[in-house]
Order: sequence, then C-alpha cells, then structure tokens
Amino acid sequence: MNLEELMLRRLVFVSGKGGVGKTTVAISLGLLAAQLGKKTILVELTSSERIAPFFFDKMAGYKELELQNNLFVINPNPHDCLKEYVMKQVYFKGIYELFVNNRYVTSFLNAIPGLNELLMLGKIMDLEWQKKYDFIIVDAPATGHGVSFLEVPDVVMNAVKVGPLRKKAFEISEGIKNQEVTAFCGVTLAEEMPVVELSELMEKIKKDLKINLGPVFVNNTVSSPLSLAEAVKLKEEPFSEDEHLKAYPALALMMYERAKLNEEYIVELKKNIGKNTLIKLPHKPGLIRKGKDFFPLVDDLKEYLHA
Ligand SMILES: Nc1ncnc2c1ncn2[C@@H]1O[C@H](COP(=O)(O)OP(=O)(O)OP(=O)(O)O)[C@@H](O)[C@H]1O
Ligand SMILES: [Mg+2]
Repeated sequence: MNLEELMLRRLVFVSGKGGVGKTTVAISLGLLAAQLGKKTILVELTSSERIAPFFFDKMAGYKELELQNNLFVINPNPHDCLKEYVMKQVYFKGIYELFVNNRYVTSFLNAIPGLNELLMLGKIMDLEWQKKYDFIIVDAPATGHGVSFLEVPDVVMNAVKVGPLRKKAFEISEGIKNQEVTAFCGVTLAEEMPVVELSELMEKIKKDLKINLGPVFVNNTVSSPLSLAEAVKLKEEPFSEDEHLKAYPALALMMYERAKLNEEYIVELKKNIGKNTLIKLPHKPGLIRKGKDFFPLVDDLKEYLHA
C-alpha cells in the first residue's frame, strides 16, 4: 500500500517500539489528511496526554477537541468508554452509578484481562461507525502492547462463545480486519532493534490478525553530507590541522557513517515489507514543540503522494 492508498482508508493504527516517533507520525499524518480536506480525528491511547498541548494549553480527555480546521483529538480512557457503553444500553445515569460506578464493580472489571483494550477499541469503532469523521488515526501503544491490543477481540471471541460481549468483539474484529477501511502503519528508526521488532510485529499483524498493512515509516533518518569519494578522501587526507576546523570533517564523517548504517537497516526492512511503500522521514533539527513544527514533516509526506 502506498500513501495515496492509505489516504483512502478510514481507520489507521500507528504503532512501533517506544520512542521511535509514533506520535510524531500520527500527528503529521493527521495534519496531512486535514489539509487534504478530510475531517480527521487523532485517537491517543496513552494515559499521559501529549497531542493537544502541541496546539494549545488544553487537554482533550474523553471530549473530541478541535485542534485546527479539520483536525480533532480524543484521549479516551477505559472508564469513560465503559460509562458511555453502559449508558447506551441502560439509558439511566442512576442505574450506571448504582451498578457499575462503584468500587467493587470497578475493581472486578479492572481484573478482567483485555476488557480495557476491548472498551477502547469499541470506542474507536464507534467513531468509525458514526461516520462523523472521514479519517481516524490511532496513536496506538508501543510494540509488544501493540499486538496484544489488536489481538483482544479475537481472544475474547475464542473465550466467550455467546452473548453481547462476543457480539461486540466480533463486530470490532470484523471492523479492524476490513481491508477497505483499516490499515496498520508501523513506525521505526533505521536501527537494528526497532527494525527487527517491527518486522516481527508486521508479520504477526498480517498473518495472524489479518489486518491490512499500510506504508512503513522510517523516522529520524540522516542523510550524508558527503559522497563516497569525498568520505574516502577525507579519511585519507586530513582536512585541516587547525584545531577549530578539525571538528567539521569529523562531524561530516560521522553523519556519513550514520547515513550508511541507516541505509543498511532500510535494506533489511525492505525485505520484510512486501509491496508496501517505505516512507523516510528525516531527522529535523530543533525541538518539536508546537503544531507548526510538524509542517516540515507534512511536506516530506506530501512528496510520497502521487509518487
Ligand atoms: N523526525 C524527527 N525529527 C526530529 N525530532 C523527532 C522526529 N521524530 C520524533 N522526534 C522527537 O523524538 C521524540 C520521540 O518522538 P515521539 O514522541 O513521536 O515518539 P513515540 O514513539 O510516540 O514515543 P512513546 O513511545 O513515548 O509514545 C520527541 O521528542 C519528538 O519530538
Ligand atoms: Mg507517543
């Protein structure tokens, strides 16, 4: 799948190893979709909320918050998902307060493995079924957690053979396996461990979970300031004896080596991603602090549209 084909989906899960740039990629994709005229929502599945503060001094929590034209965010938590779900079934707030929102029931529910994940996935699918948004991007938990989170509907279906829980799990499972609607996008650095982990994760997502794979994002790539010939020359002949100038060739050579290593891991990754597009996002100098700091990355993404 290429980026253009991804933009034709409605639900995209973004995941990868911790710290590789999942949130950065999710926001950049969100800004791109919004610019393409799609009403887009970012679903942030982490307890510490990070997306809204890039745009202003507010938190979204369980409310859909508009970040800018066409771009929204929500930070759902299992408790509010359960409340919304139960309220939809029983209609009376009093009944919810009496039977669900008390500490005995809450601690019982917290002990059911996978229930929290199922509730959050249920909320995501509700957003999709409501058709209020054209594009939903899920900033999913880091790898390891990533698969188990998407596995939950199938696990519940295997464990629960009848009843409303099974029905819900079935509907969610169907939704995330729908090739026309959903895609999974992996994010990695061009380094050994993240590449190995992401390759294993994608294999599992595709073969076991039967979820469609989207483009793979290689984040924080470095490009070399030197050609091979220049690098060889610099290594053989000292550029300068001047103490102040010595640092520059050393830095250029370091970037050359880093870029070379990046390319080696990209070659490895390419072996595992089939026909999916590999999207390189370069390391941007300076801190990413505000919504506008993502625009250069959005421009990089645009190069992959109509490519
Ligand atoms: N292409 C880039 N250029 C420069 N800085 C980047 C780039 N991508 C990510 N960063 C920075 O790297 C850090 C980690 O990125 P990010 O928070 O997106 O990772 P993550 O995978 O979501 O992390 P976590 O697993 O903690 O959720 C952030 O400070 C972010 O601003
Ligand atoms: Mg993150």
